[in-house]
Amino acid sequence: MSAVTVENLVKTYAAGGRRATDDVSLEVADGEFLVLVGPSGCGKTTLLRMVAGLETPDSGTVRIGGRDVTDLPARQRGLSMVFQSYAIFPHMRVRQNIGFGLTMRKVPKDEFDRRVRRAAELLQLSDYLDRYPAQLSGGQRQRVAVARAIVVDAAVLLMDEPLSNLDALLRLQFRAELKRIVGQLGTTTLYVTHDQAEAMSLGDRVAVMRDGKVAQIGPPLDVYDRPAYRFVGGFLGSPPMNFLTARVRDGALAIGDTALPAPAHLSTWDGREVVVGVRAENVQVAKDAVAGWVPARVEVVEPTGAALLLTVCLAGHQLKVQAPATFPAAADDEVHLRAEVEALRFYDPESGLALMP
Ligand SMILES: Nc1ncnc2c1ncn2[C@@H]1O[C@H](COP(=O)(O)OP(=O)(O)OP(=O)(O)O)[C@@H](O)[C@H]1O
Ligand SMILES: [Mg+2]
Repeated sequence: MSAVTVENLVKTYAAGGRRATDDVSLEVADGEFLVLVGPSGCGKTTLLRMVAGLETPDSGTVRIGGRDVTDLPARQRGLSMVFQSYAIFPHMRVRQNIGFGLTMRKVPKDEFDRRVRRAAELLQLSDYLDRYPAQLSGGQRQRVAVARAIVVDAAVLLMDEPLSNLDALLRLQFRAELKRIVGQLGTTTLYVTHDQAEAMSLGDRVAVMRDGKVAQIGPPLDVYDRPAYRFVGGFLGSPPMNFLTARVRDGALAIGDTALPAPAHLSTWDGREVVVGVRAENVQVAKDAVAGWVPARVEVVEPTGAALLLTVCLAGHQLKVQAPATFPAAADDEVHLRAEVEALRFYDPESGLALMP
């Protein structure tokens, strides 16, 4: 049992300064892969370091496997870490680097060999055990850092942007490998990234942070589909969720000159403006006018290969919508748009909080 629970963690670096984490509570279930994601400076590393025992919270509790470890030093917490600057030792061969934690624990030679071999196999480093780090590619070095973290069989694995030094292609490859390896090991994992795509692909659940708080936590597709805040929809997804303002009037949503039926739960907003959110892939696009569809003007056409990403202007709002790769569109064309009302999300313009049915 190695669930990680944090309760009401507050951390301020300078007296009277802004809170780096502001009353954060969350749980990583035993064997779960939880990703902390959010913009730079939102407190991800701070939170991870408090779980690790490298940073002392002002208040709050950290529990691992039910045990209160808030006052325990890092080395007694039974966890393993990989950091952004993966800090493998340049003067040691890959074998000694991977086995470093085992050497520290004075593990006997044959067990050392067995465990290093297994970690190296998992990370496809078996052919490189006798090399020095300088003789490896960046991706291989990063794999050595991960192998070194998993070889000790810690109950909890903490990773802070472990893929950040890789180029885009290697990052994609290694992301899939990491998912496979951690899935096989079943280790409770807390993983930090500011890359929303990485968060979506890796996490059993994702926790989206903002200004030292967790804005939303849940399975990636739930959070993607139903952002609890406008901020979350604007952070997750490529392209991010589109937003436009609409006025609720007599059961209709007025967007510029167009009126769409408003869902019933917006009746309390009659006469007021709401923010409407819609994902690019949930907007249908037609070339010719169709009754009930909304006209918009194409501003930019971007082929992604699999599809066409159109930036269109609708009643003064810029939207990104997705059309089939063969869709005949050019800048300045008129197109017509439609979305199911079920695909629309609504937000309070002031607080950014989702308006739920
Ligand atoms: N050692 C420190 N001393 C003072 N302030 C700090 C320190 N470390 C972090 N901070 C501040 O605390 C806040 C949270 O920082 P943190 O490193 O946790 O963010 P992050 O979410 O990991 O960002 P990034 O994605 O850029 O790594 C930031 O405002 C940062 O400037
Ligand atoms: Mg960080």
